[in-house]
Amino acid sequence: MAWQLRRDPLEGLRQMAREYGDIVRFYVLGQERTLLNHPDWINQVLVIKHNKFHKSELTRRVTARLLGQGLLISEGEFWRRQRRLAQPAFHRARLNDYAATMLEITEGHIRGWRNAETRNIGQEMTSLTLQIAVRTLFGTTLPEEARRVGQAMTFLMRYSLSRQRLPFRIPETWPTPRNLRANRELGFIDSLVYRIISERQEEGNSNHHDLLALLMSAMDEDGAQMTRQQLHDETMTLFLAGHETTAQMLTWTWYALSENPPVGARLQEELSGILGARPMEISDLPKLPYLEAVMKEVLRLYPPAYIMAREVIEPCEIGGYSLGPKSTIIFSQWVMHRDARYYDNPEEFRPERWLGGLADRLPPGAYFPFGGGPRRCIGEGFALEEAAIVIATLARRFRFRLVADRPVVPEPLVTLRPRHGIQMSIHACT
Ligand code: HEM
Repeated sequence: MAWQLRRDPLEGLRQMAREYGDIVRFYVLGQERTLLNHPDWINQVLVIKHNKFHKSELTRRVTARLLGQGLLISEGEFWRRQRRLAQPAFHRARLNDYAATMLEITEGHIRGWRNAETRNIGQEMTSLTLQIAVRTLFGTTLPEEARRVGQAMTFLMRYSLSRQRLPFRIPETWPTPRNLRANRELGFIDSLVYRIISERQEEGNSNHHDLLALLMSAMDEDGAQMTRQQLHDETMTLFLAGHETTAQMLTWTWYALSENPPVGARLQEELSGILGARPMEISDLPKLPYLEAVMKEVLRLYPPAYIMAREVIEPCEIGGYSLGPKSTIIFSQWVMHRDARYYDNPEEFRPERWLGGLADRLPPGAYFPFGGGPRRCIGEGFALEEAAIVIATLARRFRFRLVADRPVVPEPLVTLRPRHGIQMSIHACT
């Protein structure tokens, strides 16, 4: 079983759910894992008994070097305080402020696109969301550094993940070529983030309206502000958690639309009918139910966060099984979102399924692209706004066709990515 999971994690997880049902215990290199495949048990872990669990040791190991004590992996009172401090940066009014930036960068990004040319759409979406993340976080464009930051982040994610998958780990302090490169990339990103923080501390925050300015001015009830180290860890976390996931969501959107032309046509009809040729504003979103359904369906079939894990910190019971401290619980969006008990023809990309109130009928824990409970994604509103603006802007101008050089295969890295990227030809709408 563990072998199958290693060889093909996505199919391995589904096979386990098919063969063994709603709760399965297994061992990887002698360590106990419990896989949950039922919404009730997932809801118990995320919401009802959330205080019996921490983020898993595995999550911490993969990300700690990059993200320090940022929101994604911190725990307890420290996490609660940081979440409270960061939350105002994601309030609705703030999200409205970011919309204009998102639109401007999207328009700028596609200015050079020409009819009938072929592009690697995964790279395009990563570069677009990276520019948006840099500007909304730091209020700057960093034209020189942005590309290098993206490459460094990609390398570091691959590096951390591949280390976890090796049965024997070479210490990080050994001067192997990959360790040395990891140190170099980490040093580059660290010094860039600290430089931006220092410049901001010197010049003051008053003229800035970006996420960094909000984090810097956020103050606890006792008047304490974040230290430089905390600012660094939180900005790195928002940067990494923010741009990579949204880039994958957008990449899968163009793939799904190209594979389902009637969906693309209906989306375009809705967008043109409501918006005409004017840019989308965030207040338009409630008038665009089909766009919302498309986004929900993309996140169902191609969830960028495809698996989650927790470590038991207090003995508890889930689904009739006792769980002891240190045991690891896993559950997967990839598996649950394709479960035929909750979704008709689950493999079909059919946004229409969401139009009749499916979201309200699903039990909690059956659809969780952004997680759930107190640790639910802080950037959900930000991501959906960004995705809506990018999709509404591009879908009215271009149609994307898959260039069939090789099959598109989802690859479970830190996020769910297409293994070789996706080459698409771009066709201007007339
Ligand atoms: C489609 C895009 C996104 C997806 C699918 C996604 C998914 C998730 C999921 C599943 C979690 C919960 C992880 C867990 O409980 O173990 C999470 C947490 C988080 N996400 Fe997102 N995310 C997205 C976009 C963003 C954006 C745009 C930001 C920031 C700008 C962001 C920042 C965070 C942070 C800071 C956390 C940790 C929250 C906490 O524990 O308090 N995410 N995300």
